Amino acid sequence: MIWETAALSPRERYQLLTSLVVPRPVAWISTRSQAGARNLAPFSYFGAVSATPFLVSVSIGSRGGVDKDTLRNIRETGVFCINVATEPQLAAMNESAGEWGPEVDEFDRAELESAEAQTISAPYVADCPAVLECRVSQIVELDGSPNTLVIGEVTCVRLADEVPLIPGTLFADTQALRPVARLWGDLYSLIGETPALARPAVDRPPRG
Ligand SMILES: Cc1cc2nc3c(=O)[nH]c(=O)nc-3n(C[C@H](O)[C@H](O)[C@H](O)COP(=O)(O)O)c2cc1C
Repeated sequence: MIWETAALSPRERYQLLTSLVVPRPVAWISTRSQAGARNLAPFSYFGAVSATPFLVSVSIGSRGGVDKDTLRNIRETGVFCINVATEPQLAAMNESAGEWGPEVDEFDRAELESAEAQTISAPYVADCPAVLECRVSQIVELDGSPNTLVIGEVTCVRLADEVPLIPGTLFADTQALRPVARLWGDLYSLIGETPALARPAVDRPPRG
């Protein structure tokens, strides 16, 4: 099978993209509107961009040509929290994904407590073991796409005590964190085996 993507429908492109770029980590984004309403929703078009500066990206689609609540709040306030969605929170994360109107507080819908971030004015999921507090670095309107790419600079990382660090490092223990990832449709993937492979040692002639 081979497809030239120009000949595909938007639905077909979506199906290939979301089933082949897998598993995708889930940024469970909490924001507050300018008027003070809390909002929470998951986004799996989420990626690591740069460590220094500490940048992450999220691609947010539009709903019938109108910004989703998350994007509207991010544009209004310039800040957001990325809660790393984990196994015990899968059902609550899914509940928060309903296409609710802006008046609905998804923390209440999903029966979640919020707490206040340290470096920005935004709520985060109090029970979430890993939270990235973000300030907007860039908002990129993508040519020809209904999606908007938000690049956030992480100003603070919050990690719960129950997620240990690998001694001598700031690597968080993945088996303790238990992040969830999205596949396609209603399917998710959980952390399974995590084989370790040492990279090949390359002998190079001295430079210059
Ligand atoms: C696991 C998961 C991942 C999702 N990823 C995205 C995404 O990357 N981009 C997007 O626009 N919508 C995504 N959605 C849909 C949004 O979560 C949904 O449109 C939500 O209602 C948006 O909420 P808001 O209007 O409060 O921002 C995803 C939904 C689920 C369940």
